Amino acid sequence: MTHLSHHTMHDEADTRRFAETLATAGQPGDLIALSGDLGAGKSTFARAFIRAMTGIPDLEVPSPTFTLVQAYDHPAGYALYHADLYRLESEDDLEDIGLDDERMDALLLVEWPDRLPEDWRANALELTFTYEAQDKGSRLITLATKSGSWADRLTKLHIGNEPPS
Ligand SMILES: Nc1ncnc2c1ncn2[C@@H]1O[C@H](COP(=O)(O)OP(=O)(O)OP(=O)(O)O)[C@@H](O)[C@H]1O
Ligand SMILES: [Mg+2]
Repeated sequence: MTHLSHHTMHDEADTRRFAETLATAGQPGDLIALSGDLGAGKSTFARAFIRAMTGIPDLEVPSPTFTLVQAYDHPAGYALYHADLYRLESEDDLEDIGLDDERMDALLLVEWPDRLPEDWRANALELTFTYEAQDKGSRLITLATKSGSWADRLTKLHIGNEPPS
């Protein structure tokens, strides 16, 4: 990993603020992989991220649980895709929902990214959400990437890298 860090979100507002911070660094071509258990906060993060990137604070951002993917327009002219691949049956279905054609020119936020072909995630920003047992509103987000570009962007955001253990 080029970057690894852990961040405690004490409540939902913390998760939204963290998403807003990361959204300032988003670019077309990015894949942001959102892993973690059901209800852990992936859609909450994606909603705040998309609202920040579009600049529309009350934008409707439904969970793509059944549609699998929802598209939004960034003001700079590229697309933001929010996908939930929990119900994806096979990798071939990725073509049907159009992500394969678009992913180099768009920014993708993908819940349940374990359904993606491995090579898609080579330069992804990986977020893993875990419950903190002692507090039901608290989540731990693990941030990891092998992308030098993301590592540089995280440094600029003062999101520190942890020393290898
Ligand atoms: N610290 C927190 N961060 C994010 N959400 C939180 C937090 N604390 C409580 N919550 C609540 O947890 C729920 C998270 O739901 P969300 O739909 O974001 O999860 P999800 O990971 O997308 O689930 P799914 O796997 O079903 O798509 C929301 O009801 C939210 O209010
Ligand atoms: Mg979700």
